[in-house]
Amino acid sequence: MLKAMRHPWLLLRICHWALLILVFVETLIFFRLVNDYGGRGVQRWTGPGFKPVKAAAVQIPENQHPKPPDSPSLPPLDPEWHSVNKKRIELLTSMCRNSSIGHLSHISVSKFVLDRIFVSDKHKILFCQTPKVGNTQWKKVLIVLNGQFPTVDDVPEGLVHDHDRNGLHRLSSLTPQEISHRLNTYFKFLMVRDPFERLISAFKDKFQQNPRDEPWYNEDIAPLIIAIYRKSHWDGALTLSDLHFEEFVRYLVDVGVRRQILDQLFTNRIIHWMTYTELCAPCEIQYSVVGHHETLEKDAPYILHAAGVEGLVSYPSFPPDITRYNRTKVEQYFSGISKRDIRRLFARYQSDFHLFGYPRPDFLLN
Ligand SMILES: *[C@@H]1O[C@H](CO)[C@@H](O)[C@H](O)[C@H]1NC(C)=O
Ligand SMILES: *[C@@H]1O[C@H](CO)[C@@H](O)[C@H](O)[C@H]1NC(C)=O
Repeated sequence: MLKAMRHPWLLLRICHWALLILVFVETLIFFRLVNDYGGRGVQRWTGPGFKPVKAAAVQIPENQHPKPPDSPSLPPLDPEWHSVNKKRIELLTSMCRNSSIGHLSHISVSKFVLDRIFVSDKHKILFCQTPKVGNTQWKKVLIVLNGQFPTVDDVPEGLVHDHDRNGLHRLSSLTPQEISHRLNTYFKFLMVRDPFERLISAFKDKFQQNPRDEPWYNEDIAPLIIAIYRKSHWDGALTLSDLHFEEFVRYLVDVGVRRQILDQLFTNRIIHWMTYTELCAPCEIQYSVVGHHETLEKDAPYILHAAGVEGLVSYPSFPPDITRYNRTKVEQYFSGISKRDIRRLFARYQSDFHLFGYPRPDFLLN
């Protein structure tokens, strides 16, 4: 009850009404924006000196015997992993040129993208953050590499996401010349995982478990999604029960102006469910390594080796099973979702499937 009297609640109600009116207007005049993301209001980054950049080649000296990492649970560097990554980069490059999915995978290297990329100048590393793919641990690795803490276990949890204090600079904070230089010469990597499993993880993490105590997901974002996408919300009152995965999906697949408005209201919190393409511009920025969450125990040592920092830092240990793709879980979450919405969801995330070699989830689509 007390909550209802708080100021943000009034704001929320105003937003509800404004949105519902917009829904009406949209339905009446069949208004659709052609360009799904044209209206997000991100500043396009068109500074001088920017041109598409070549990947810094990953050289593994033949004669250098890789040291085993300090962490006991991670196996040592797999010599095969260089060719695994090479194949991933080749697939990415060829898919970016593939005209049948090309329109989905090309975006501009906007300020929004540059905000996602963290810089370690000391070791010439750029890391593009893809939330829900184990990024906290990679940020800890970068913080250690910057020299603030001796090991990843010493980095306080609270500091990792506190970007005013953790000393991690975003690429967007630099001048166009500095950005261009780093994109051209630094080691660049990002992490990906099965796109649908990532959405489930975002939903669980933000709307069901909320371990980091971020009240805005359930107090601001969920009620707005429910107000717009719950099938029976016109029952006299704005219901505030939990957001269902089904409604979350309906929001994600909306190609109309409603989602654009919601995304504006939700600000940067949408990074948890935006595509890798939108977050990291993988067809414009030529990444040196694409790590896969599913094979993290192989990818983490390889990335540290390829970035030239193995021995300086080790990736936190973890039980390998927790990163494996879990089809049962995916089937469970999608069991209540209509085929139509699953197909739409695949349409929205298909560039992430194609560019990074994740198989089309036919068991859900057919
Ligand atoms: C383009 O991508 C589609 C979808 O993955 C694939 O079926 C097709 O073979 C690709 N074409 C080329 C030329 O790679
Ligand atoms: C896969 O997900 C299901 C359902 O959430 C769970 O019961 C099961 O333990 C998971 N399997 C593994 C190997 O994590």
